[in-house]
Amino acid sequence: MDDRLIDSNLKEEDIFEKNIRPQMLSEYVGQQQIKENLAVFIEAAKIRNEPLDHVLLYGPPGLGKTTLAHIIANEMGTNIKTASGPSIEKSGDLAAILSTLEPGDVLFIDEIHRIPSYIEEILYPAMEDFEMDIVIGAEGKSKSIKIDLPPFTLVGATTRAGDLSSPLRDRFGIVNKLEFYSDEELCDIVKRTSDVLSMHIDDDAAMELARRSRKTPRIANRLFKRVRDFALVEGDGYINLDITLKSLDRLKVDKYGLDNIDIDYLNALITKFNGGPVGIETIATAIGEEVTTIEDVVEPFLLQEGFIKRTARGRVATEKAYKHLKIVNQASLF
Ligand SMILES: Nc1ncnc2c1ncn2[C@@H]1O[C@H](COP(=O)(O)OP(=O)(O)OP(=O)(O)O)[C@@H](O)[C@H]1O
Ligand SMILES: [Mg+2]
Repeated sequence: MDDRLIDSNLKEEDIFEKNIRPQMLSEYVGQQQIKENLAVFIEAAKIRNEPLDHVLLYGPPGLGKTTLAHIIANEMGTNIKTASGPSIEKSGDLAAILSTLEPGDVLFIDEIHRIPSYIEEILYPAMEDFEMDIVIGAEGKSKSIKIDLPPFTLVGATTRAGDLSSPLRDRFGIVNKLEFYSDEELCDIVKRTSDVLSMHIDDDAAMELARRSRKTPRIANRLFKRVRDFALVEGDGYINLDITLKSLDRLKVDKYGLDNIDIDYLNALITKFNGGPVGIETIATAIGEEVTTIEDVVEPFLLQEGFIKRTARGRVATEKAYKHLKIVNQASLF
């Protein structure tokens, strides 16, 4: 689902991200419960002059995990060092990262579920006792030495909390599941982005974008960016409902915010497999997508919006899916 194809595009996207990303809790829209709790834990840690307890953030892509990790560091007034699970391939990689930590630092590990389990074990003493065991010397003569680490906060992010081993999960004192956003919250995010970028958007246009953003801030901001282009080139230089509807049409984002891959998924489920139940591997093969993409990116939203159901025997299309695709559900006729 990531449409970053070329480098220059990546740069534009990065600058954009940096500008519109909220820096403090007060600017972070929604996730009320998480924000209120974090504010308390952060304040308490500051009063005690200790680092914040380790934080695990999980939920579908684009809901604001990375953003929140940076906010935690900003609110604590500390530096953030970042790493990602797939880039930690050897135990030395993790040891190198840990040894750069300074007192109070936030260490953000994205996609933390992808750290190999034998490397993960280095994290246990690091998290619990701020200690690291490293093995030095050649085989036969090797010995293990303990190195003290400064107190730090590990913030882990993952789209799949279920893939985390339980010893690792248990070592996070603060565990937060990010939820999909309401249309009103997304509307606020769109308006905030419009302010930051000094590109006016009418209220009804912002609401329309919000409704079609798959309940996801990243998508809301992306759509904003594209509509901004249409408004600049083909519109009046500001974003109104008219140019928004035209742009969304051109972008093939339908009224529920479903895009090509969602539609392909539902179409396959309904036309090829009679609406299910069918296994996820089978659907993945039918539409040429990775199982993980479907599980992490496509299905959470379709489930949340009631287009599909997950049963013990596989995925099933709901009446809402049939209606949306304008296909008559033969089974419901009898
Ligand atoms: N609560 C929020 N308020 C305002 N903007 C938000 C919020 N959450 C996310 N955003 C915006 O949405 C974009 C995506 O957020 P972010 O990169 O933090 O998502 P993520 O959960 O880390 O996604 P991934 O799982 O793909 O890494 C960011 O550009 C950020 O500006
Ligand atoms: Mg992220």
